[in-house]
Amino acid sequence: MPDIIFRNVTLRYGDFEAVKKLNFHIYDGEYIGLLGPSGCGKTTTLKLIAGLRTPSEGDIIIDKRIVNGIPPEERNIGMVFQHFAIFPFMTVWENVTYGPKVKGWSDIKAEKAAWDAIELVRLSDKVDVYPKYLSAPELQRVGLARAIASGAKILLLDEPLSMLDVKVRQVFRHEIRRLVKKLGLTAVHVTHDQEEATAVCDRIIVMRKGEIVQIGKPYELYRKPKTLFVANFIGESVFLIGHILEVTDHDSIIRLRGGYLLEAPTTMFNKGSRVVVAIRKEEFKILPASEFDKSTNQLNGTIVQNRFIGFFSRVRIKLKSEEVIEIKVSPEIARTLRVGDEVTLSVNKEDVLVYTFPKEGLEEALSVV
Ligand SMILES: Nc1ncnc2c1ncn2[C@@H]1O[C@H](COP(=O)(O)OP(=O)(O)OP(=O)(O)O)[C@@H](O)[C@H]1O
Ligand SMILES: [Mg+2]
Repeated sequence: MPDIIFRNVTLRYGDFEAVKKLNFHIYDGEYIGLLGPSGCGKTTTLKLIAGLRTPSEGDIIIDKRIVNGIPPEERNIGMVFQHFAIFPFMTVWENVTYGPKVKGWSDIKAEKAAWDAIELVRLSDKVDVYPKYLSAPELQRVGLARAIASGAKILLLDEPLSMLDVKVRQVFRHEIRRLVKKLGLTAVHVTHDQEEATAVCDRIIVMRKGEIVQIGKPYELYRKPKTLFVANFIGESVFLIGHILEVTDHDSIIRLRGGYLLEAPTTMFNKGSRVVVAIRKEEFKILPASEFDKSTNQLNGTIVQNRFIGFFSRVRIKLKSEEVIEIKVSPEIARTLRVGDEVTLSVNKEDVLVYTFPKEGLEEALSVV
């Protein structure tokens, strides 16, 4: 069955390393997300899996055999792209039967496979229609049907939803996942939308500048981001600079600018180290200003903005340390807050993530370009 393994895979274009020493193991039947900012090497990684590129270094192993030199058509892979890549001069039926026929299957076998795929993507009533008369989601369903009709065991999806509008995208991503699970396929889904990856993937590979920065289940990436970049890219965090004041048996006390003290459940840093603290924007509790008692895990300041977004509100607070932070609160709580109000913020120590202050500077460490 098709596990996909990368061992130290590097791909160079001239001197430029588009992907560097990639190592991962995708298990049979997994739905994997490949997530990262534009240009980080997601499409390149998919092309390596598909056989459209050959590694400059390292090995790619699919289904227990090294496939480095094996051409795409011998890899049993279906691909779906951002741009629909449907033949415009062929009907839905002709588009979907094309792959199986090129493979040399008998007419009966090819037509049965095409019909099964078309039924799965619910396009049975559009078989004789030409692509120009189809909506964007229908075109992408044709793409999916084409990818699975040839019996592919691995489905590679490169931004398959980005041409669809938001609402349709939210429904369609679950449709793709259901289809993949129903057919027992292994799927690799490229996206730069962290919400999309979180919503449908079993595990996510996060990439940055040609390298893998973390692999994990969506919730692991959210709770335990390994780097500042991941803490910024998956979900939203407030970042504050400080140093380690004290290390106890299980915890550390961090002193932030303005004299605030935070307790965090880590003993990984030496006393005196310069650190950056990340706290999820939704983990702050808002208390009345009078409850500020200078104990640990409290901040205080003045509300400078309160914006209703929909499911939540973004509230900006100017701390006594002069830093302005943005947090997310429920609309019910936001309604009770006014610009100019003084408030106390409190946070649980389990929600305080600590990182070494990055050599390259905080802005660069967080940068998504
Ligand atoms: N044929 C090529 N020749 C030279 N450089 C290339 C080539 N294809 C891609 N690159 C470079 O390799 C890097 C990775 O490109 P890739 O297309 O994999 O990024 P991506 O993560 O898919 O980005 P996007 O989200 O914009 O699609 C980029 O810097 C890109 O400019
Ligand atoms: Mg791409």
